[in-house]
Amino acid sequence: MPTAVSLFTGCGGSDAGLIAAGFDVLMANDVIPYARDTYLANHPETDYRLGDVQKIETFPQADLLVGCYPCQGFSQGGARQADRRINYLYLDFVRALRQIQPRAFIVENVSGMRSSTYKHLLNDQIEQFRASGEHGYNVKWSLLSADEYGVPQERKRILIVGIRSDIGLEYEFPSPTHGPRGTQPFRTIENALAGLPEWPLGEFCEDPFHWYYLSRNRRRDWHETSKTIVSHMRHMPLHPISPSLRRIHTDSWVFETAERARRFSYREAARLQGFSDNFVFPDTPNSSLAMRYRVVGNAVPPPLFQAVAGNLPNIWD
Ligand SMILES: C[S@@+](CC[C@H](N)C(=O)[O-])C[C@H]1O[C@@H](n2cnc3c(N)ncnc32)[C@H](O)[C@@H]1O
Repeated sequence: MPTAVSLFTGCGGSDAGLIAAGFDVLMANDVIPYARDTYLANHPETDYRLGDVQKIETFPQADLLVGCYPCQGFSQGGARQADRRINYLYLDFVRALRQIQPRAFIVENVSGMRSSTYKHLLNDQIEQFRASGEHGYNVKWSLLSADEYGVPQERKRILIVGIRSDIGLEYEFPSPTHGPRGTQPFRTIENALAGLPEWPLGEFCEDPFHWYYLSRNRRRDWHETSKTIVSHMRHMPLHPISPSLRRIHTDSWVFETAERARRFSYREAARLQGFSDNFVFPDTPNSSLAMRYRVVGNAVPPPLFQAVAGNLPNIWD
C-alpha cells in the first residue's frame, strides 16, 4: 500500500478520499484540537501531530505528500490580503516536499488563488514545486468542480499535482463523472440527505438571520446541488425545508412566508461534502457545535480528493 504524509489535515476530508483510493496515511497535522479528535476517531493508527506545522522539524518518508493549506487569505469569504502571513504557509509544504522528496504530491486550494491579486502566489508555489528536491517535479494544475465528481455541492477548487521528474510521467486530471460532461446526473440535495430527520435539534445553528446573511439568496431546492458549504456556522446555506427567499433590494432578501427556516445541520453539511455515513464526529471536550461545523466546512470533499489521488499513475513499486 503506498504511504502518505498529510499536512493541513483538518478532520481528514482529503484523507478519507486518500484512504478510499488505497493510501496509508502515516502522519497528519493541524492546529485544531477537534479536527485531531475527529481524525483519530476515524483513523486511530495515524500519527496525528497537533500544533503549528512550522514547529515540525522532521517528516517521515512517504510516497505521497498532500496538503490543503488554509484559504482565509484567498477566499471570497475571508479578508483578502495578499500579504497576510497565512498566505505563506505553503512554504512549509515546500519545506516538507524538499525533505521527503515523495514520488508525488497533491495540493488543494480555493479558486480565488487564480485572481490577479493572488496569481503571483500561485505562480510562486508552482515554481517552487518544480524546483523542489534533487529531481524537481512535473507539475500540473486545474480548477475542478466538485459536483462533476459526485459531490452534491457547488464547490470549485484548484488542485495542483506533481510527479517527481525522474519518474518521467505527467499527471492527467480525472474526467468528470457527473453532470453534462460525465455519464451520471449531478447528485442533488435530495439524494444526499435521504433518510435524515427534518428537524435534528441541537445539530443546526439557530442564530438569527442577520442582514448580512440575508444580503444574498442562501437557499437551493431539493432537486439542485447545494451552495458551497462554508466553515462558519452562521453562514451555512439554508435547508430546502425553509421558505424561499425573494429579493427586495440589490443586497437584501426576505423570506416569502413566515414558516420556520433553518440552516443545514453539521451532519447534513458532512453529507453535502461527500463524507460517508460511517465517518464519526465524536463527542469530546472540544466538540462544540461551531467546531463540528468548522471541521466539516474546512474539509476537502472526500470524493473529489479520491478522484484526484486515484488518477495518479502506478508509480509506487
Ligand atoms: C482547508 S483546511 C484543510 C482541510 C483538510 N485537508 C480536510 O480535508 O479536512 C486548512 C487547515 O489548515 C489548518 N492550519 C492553519 N494554520 C496552520 C498551521 N500553522 N499549522 C498547521 N495547520 C494549520 C487549519 O486549521 C485548517 O484545518
